Amino acid sequence: MTNMTDSYAVIGNPIKHSLSPEIFKIFAQQTGQSLVYQKLLAPFDLFNETVKDFQDKGGKGLNVTLPFKGQAFRLATQHNDAARLAQSANTLIFSPQGEITAANTDGVGLIHDIENNHLVKIKDQRILLIGAGGAATGVIAPLLSKTPKNLHIVNRTAEKALALAQRFGQLGEISASGFDGLNGETFDLIINASSASLYGEMVPLSPSVISAHCICYDMVYLPEATVFLQWAQKNGAIQCIDGLGMLVEQAAESFYLWRGIRPETQPVIQQLRK
Ligand code: ATR
Repeated sequence: MTNMTDSYAVIGNPIKHSLSPEIFKIFAQQTGQSLVYQKLLAPFDLFNETVKDFQDKGGKGLNVTLPFKGQAFRLATQHNDAARLAQSANTLIFSPQGEITAANTDGVGLIHDIENNHLVKIKDQRILLIGAGGAATGVIAPLLSKTPKNLHIVNRTAEKALALAQRFGQLGEISASGFDGLNGETFDLIINASSASLYGEMVPLSPSVISAHCICYDMVYLPEATVFLQWAQKNGAIQCIDGLGMLVEQAAESFYLWRGIRPETQPVIQQLRK
């Protein structure tokens, strides 16, 4: 007789510092669900093989982090709308028949954190999104669905920002430039979706983009303030928000997709802050 506990993992490279196992442990306790959740290191050239191996061993689903979100999307045979729009996936769901569905909960996670946890509004605001990689791409459609006044994408490689503005242009007011193309504009909400913070680097952004009531958000979470949030504080942002809430919110949405139950996020965020 077998009685296997449902098994999940977060896959990435590197993966050592992931907080996800801790988050899912608290979700499982809180909702009375029985599951195990581990970290899975995939070699850079063996992502698909590592996923298949986990699936063959009975795994039920995976969270996917850097640098594999694009590959995860391409590996899956079914895709939910958010994943399709982003062309990347942070959540894989394995069916009993072995089919893989790709989902992307990053955008919903960001929106929930901004609107519900921090009570910051997106509607009618002027938003600056920094970066044009996978992290930025995943949040553009969810942000536009909240009808900001404008979403401007700024990126070190300007062409990548312009391509995204073109790709999502149907969905709302969107513009793009390199850092030297901001022309003295100011913004109400600045979201850093570049990976610069991960390397302890600051993007070449002029402090003049910070309006009198500007809120700055870094999608990267580190135990200490990122260089971007230090810069924001120093230059007069009225509120600086780190990526911990988004991390918990996207995890909660993945948990819901896998388990059909939505955990409460606030107590988890508070517990992790300690
Ligand atoms: P992710 O999936 O985290 O978005 P990515 O797809 O490699 O990772 O994208 C990284 C993003 O961070 C890009 O927008 C990159 O700018 P480029 O497109 O010009 O490469 C941006 N980025 C990383 N380090 C940066 C730095 N030091 N300064 C400015 N932008 C940086």
